[in-house]
Amino acid sequence: MIDGGAPIGVFDSGIGGLTVVRELIRQLPNESIIYFGDTARVPYGPKSPDTVLRYSREIVSFLKGQGVKAIVIACNTATAHALAALQEENELPIIGVIEPGSRAAARASEGGQIGVIGTYGTINSRAYEKAIIEAAPSTTITALACPLFVPLVEEGWLDTEATRLIAQEYLAPLVDAKIDTLVLGCTHYPLLKRVIGTTIGRDVRLIDSAEETAAETASVLRENGLVHSETQNARYRFIASDAPEQFLRVGQRFLGGSIDRVETVTLG
Ligand code: DGL
Repeated sequence: MIDGGAPIGVFDSGIGGLTVVRELIRQLPNESIIYFGDTARVPYGPKSPDTVLRYSREIVSFLKGQGVKAIVIACNTATAHALAALQEENELPIIGVIEPGSRAAARASEGGQIGVIGTYGTINSRAYEKAIIEAAPSTTITALACPLFVPLVEEGWLDTEATRLIAQEYLAPLVDAKIDTLVLGCTHYPLLKRVIGTTIGRDVRLIDSAEETAAETASVLRENGLVHSETQNARYRFIASDAPEQFLRVGQRFLGGSIDRVETVTLG
């Protein structure tokens, strides 16, 4: 019997999954959260599907050991390479970010021209293309990997001149493709929303799957009778596999007072 008062486990390769945590806190204020950022092994984007699956299994097993009642994979790369296997291997509910983001993009796009940006792993897996086409079959999709965005976010360079130049170079083909909607297909990218939005143009809708993923988590908890309805203080734990100070510094800029301490746990 899983206890509804148990925390939700959330993981990412690093700090990017905090974009999903922020939304979970907003939509599910009674739920406690344990977050694991695999900062020792970030980035996942250029690594092989097998390696990302192995890392993801280790994190899931760690989070289960902490007594979580459900797990949110707040990482597109890990969702692309590991969601199906993890769902099959585990009893507890496991939620990914790609399907919720694809549904949101299909709903938002008026002209059916959707751009997707993500890591090499996510883009090469074509997981977004499949999910978007399933939701909106007549869509044209232009997908691009933007790997340098991840270290820029981990470094806290959210709106610097260098970040703006890199964004211009990466996003030029999407400007030419005249997309109307852009999926931020990496949980790190919403931290660069301002730069990405200015570069791509104000009339392009930006889809951040965090909101949709939190809504999906809420409905999965409801379906499984796992909602924590008592309004007692929710507790948040943040764990990094390396460099907790850097995690705390960037995390606080983003999550404010909800993060005041980062533990270190090494896996593998
Ligand atoms: N934040 C992750 C994602 O959504 C991965 C970034 C990385 O580790 O390369 O894909």
